[in-house]
Amino acid sequence: MYEPTPDDRFTFGLWTVGWQARDPFGDATRAPLDPVESVHRLAELGAYGVTFHDDDLLAVEADRDRAIAAFRKALAETGLKVPMATTNLFTHPVFRDGAFTSNDRDVRRYALRKVMRNLDLAASLGARTYVCWGGREGAESDAAKDVRAALARYKEALDLLCGYVRERGYDIRFAIEPKPNEPRGDILLPTIGHALAFIGELEHPDMVGLNPEVGHEQMAGLNFVHGIAQALWHGKLFHIDLNGQHGPRFDQDLIFGHGDVMSAFFLVDLLEHGGYDGPRHFDYKPLRTEDPSDVWVSAAANMRTYLILREKARTFRADPEVRDALRASRVEELALPSLNRGETLADLAGDDFDPDAAAQRGYHFTHLNQLALEHLLGVR
Ligand code: GCO
Ligand code: MN
Ligand code: MN
Ligand code: MN
Repeated sequence: MYEPTPDDRFTFGLWTVGWQARDPFGDATRAPLDPVESVHRLAELGAYGVTFHDDDLLAVEADRDRAIAAFRKALAETGLKVPMATTNLFTHPVFRDGAFTSNDRDVRRYALRKVMRNLDLAASLGARTYVCWGGREGAESDAAKDVRAALARYKEALDLLCGYVRERGYDIRFAIEPKPNEPRGDILLPTIGHALAFIGELEHPDMVGLNPEVGHEQMAGLNFVHGIAQALWHGKLFHIDLNGQHGPRFDQDLIFGHGDVMSAFFLVDLLEHGGYDGPRHFDYKPLRTEDPSDVWVSAAANMRTYLILREKARTFRADPEVRDALRASRVEELALPSLNRGETLADLAGDDFDPDAAAQRGYHFTHLNQLALEHLLGVR
């Protein structure tokens, strides 16, 4: 039980297990990890695939062609898939003021070239999703960035890249990853809601969706489960970054479930029963305290936690007491349209409704929530 297999479609960024644990106050605590080793280790642990930034492939081999060849060989040996790829538009100092929205036009042009080159590789590896995390697209001073111009340049970049994918005939969609801050003081498209509104202004809105990350919405104090539900409702949940976070503070990128576990439970419940069929992608950082062997313990922990929560969500939904509680709380009633078919607003006049009497009715949500907690805690 709780043993992952490729059917579970768990995927990991190469940059997650490969994180050397450099932080703003301290040097790396781990040596660079060969992507070839990561592919083999993740396959042994039961993962379905890996994802990567262009530069992740160069961790131990500086020659791009040789690095790609070694990566392809490891994929072929293990059967691991590459469902998603992305671009590093944040590490090199040239991106200090952003990539698609840098004030420096030459940097914007360079960023587009960097993405196009990796899109070609992503397509050749069978990736269907291309993530855009604009970590450096932002500012520390409101005088420093004309946000309306920056959004116009952001749109320009995505319109151009969608055009490139169409021209090349790639089967790829873009997924924007919102984040409120860090590394910039304020990042553009800070939340799921901002990104959804932005997508509506694009030339090919159907080709662009979201890659929300658990911790990023929680850094903004938002309810991640609600955000994911809304992304699903808009048909925009193209991909997801699972991890953990303890509320508004620096981006912790904890193991999935090692932050707000109740939210993680309801998230898995939603993903499993809400129509998401993409990969379950972990974007976490093995703790800086850990040694190279602990890295694989942490990778396994993400998958095991997900599988435990999946089982808990299943037993929660199957529990007759939960079904009764859902009914008592009128949760299903919300799915009924407020007007019957054929009714108009004029028909409301005929309602025989006593608001004072209705105001006496409680919703019994406490009992429902306690049942969820008890399933989660394993006492049911
Ligand atoms: C973060 C971000 C990054 C991006 C990834 C893709 O934790 O701030 O999630 O990890 O997801 O680098 O570009
Ligand atoms: Mn993060
Ligand atoms: Mn992420
Ligand atoms: Mn991350």
